[in-house]
Amino acid sequence: MSHLIAPSILSADFSNLKKDIEMINKSYADWFHLDIMDGVFVPNISFGIPVVRDIKKHAKKPLDVHLMITDPDKYFSDFKKAGADIISFHYEASNHLHRSIQALKDLGIKAGVAINPHTNISLLEDIICDVDMILIMSVNPGFGGQKFIENTYDKIQKLKNIIISKNTNTLIQIDGGVNLDNAPKLFKAGADILVAGNTVFSSDNPISVIQKLKG
Ligand code: DX5
Ligand code: ZN
Repeated sequence: MSHLIAPSILSADFSNLKKDIEMINKSYADWFHLDIMDGVFVPNISFGIPVVRDIKKHAKKPLDVHLMITDPDKYFSDFKKAGADIISFHYEASNHLHRSIQALKDLGIKAGVAINPHTNISLLEDIICDVDMILIMSVNPGFGGQKFIENTYDKIQKLKNIIISKNTNTLIQIDGGVNLDNAPKLFKAGADILVAGNTVFSSDNPISVIQKLKG
């Protein structure tokens, strides 16, 4: 089982982004997690395509782009051109999930589906064979630094059961409120990739925190 860490740039210092990108390059982190918010799907606005393009210039690890936007299909190609290696879009933002997943595949990019805390895992049963990753939101999307929702463990278990019954290699990513306390429990429960924003960037020693999160 993989134990990957994806620091979320949302909590980085945007006045000195290159410094934080270089820190992640040097660390044991595996991916860059980039949160795109449109102020409509979620009650916050973050950053967009030009920033992703600039991060790509310096990042030496894959860019994991998490779209918290309405009409995500409209922007897949632009984010791919900007340098995304994997794109996750929300179940709740897509009317034709299968079509959206195929659109990402047609672009030659890894496809992830993100689900909000209230969305039942069983709704993913019929598309699990088509996706590379499921992103389980463990807070309500929109902000960094929120409190982890404990029901997430149950959701990981349910998703793991679906993945085993369908015999797929789908990765499980957990996003929101990940810290040094719950990280080992989340990996043990079956998570493959943990996103961490506040835990990494509020620390005086982010490199060591990333190493500890990895376990
Ligand atoms: C929340 C974002 C997360 C966020 C995680 O909407 O999707 O990726 O940056 O931040 P922390 O780890 O601080 O909860
Ligand atoms: Zn995210």
